[in-house]
Amino acid sequence: MHFLIPAAGSGSRMKAGKNKLLIDLEGETLIYWTIKSIFAASSISWIGIIGQPFEKKLLLNSIKHFCNKVEWINGGETRQESVFNGLNSLPKDAEKVLIHDGARCLVNPELIDKCALELEENDAVILATKVTDTIKMVDHKGFIKETPNRKNLWAAQTPQGFLVDKLKKAHKIAIDKNWLVTDDASLFERLNWKVKIIEGDYKNIKITSPIDLKIAKMFLNNPNY
Ligand code: CTP
Ligand code: MG
Repeated sequence: MHFLIPAAGSGSRMKAGKNKLLIDLEGETLIYWTIKSIFAASSISWIGIIGQPFEKKLLLNSIKHFCNKVEWINGGETRQESVFNGLNSLPKDAEKVLIHDGARCLVNPELIDKCALELEENDAVILATKVTDTIKMVDHKGFIKETPNRKNLWAAQTPQGFLVDKLKKAHKIAIDKNWLVTDDASLFERLNWKVKIIEGDYKNIKITSPIDLKIAKMFLNNPNY
């Protein structure tokens, strides 16, 4: 299975003054732990890291011995653009791809393999968890508009897996129509193409704000939790 790891963000919500993937977590960088988890999955055959050119050395050095086993791809201004660059840099024979955020360093390798397996039967799959909070739709003035039924709400995670040709087509349509989305499954939905949900776990958070670093440290120190 081919993997793409978007790692070209700036981490603005983390407020660390640098790409959050370069933050130290228990003696290694955040991206190191992500790559380590991916290499622990048995389904991987090829991995591309998508990063900003000016961070190439820092990111590759920080993943230590894994750096010789990954391909480097230049990222874009948005996650969507970074993934599109990644898709265009896959080897010609890549039929399927799993995309996993560099910022999700707590992913369970068995769930990565489950996504790869489900992608044998489906054109598109994503890991997601049932939402536990009651979610409100809010207007631009800060007043609640409606409360969607929680039974139908899932929080999207990564990996997200796709047939390469189909995802490339979706990205090209998005460019034409000026769609800007925060995950790849959103493109499939807009086109009415089916995406299968695979139930993931709550541990697979996207490290976004400073409090997430504390959660990540706790899990890295208690891997069997
Ligand atoms: N990403 C990317 N290229 C971009 C923006 C984001 O490859 N131009 C990657 C990030 O590095 C991250 C993943 O997409 O691994 C998910 O994005 P997010 O959590 O939003 O990370 P950042 O964009 O870095 O953070 P923020 O939105 O707080 O600035
Ligand atoms: Mg972002």
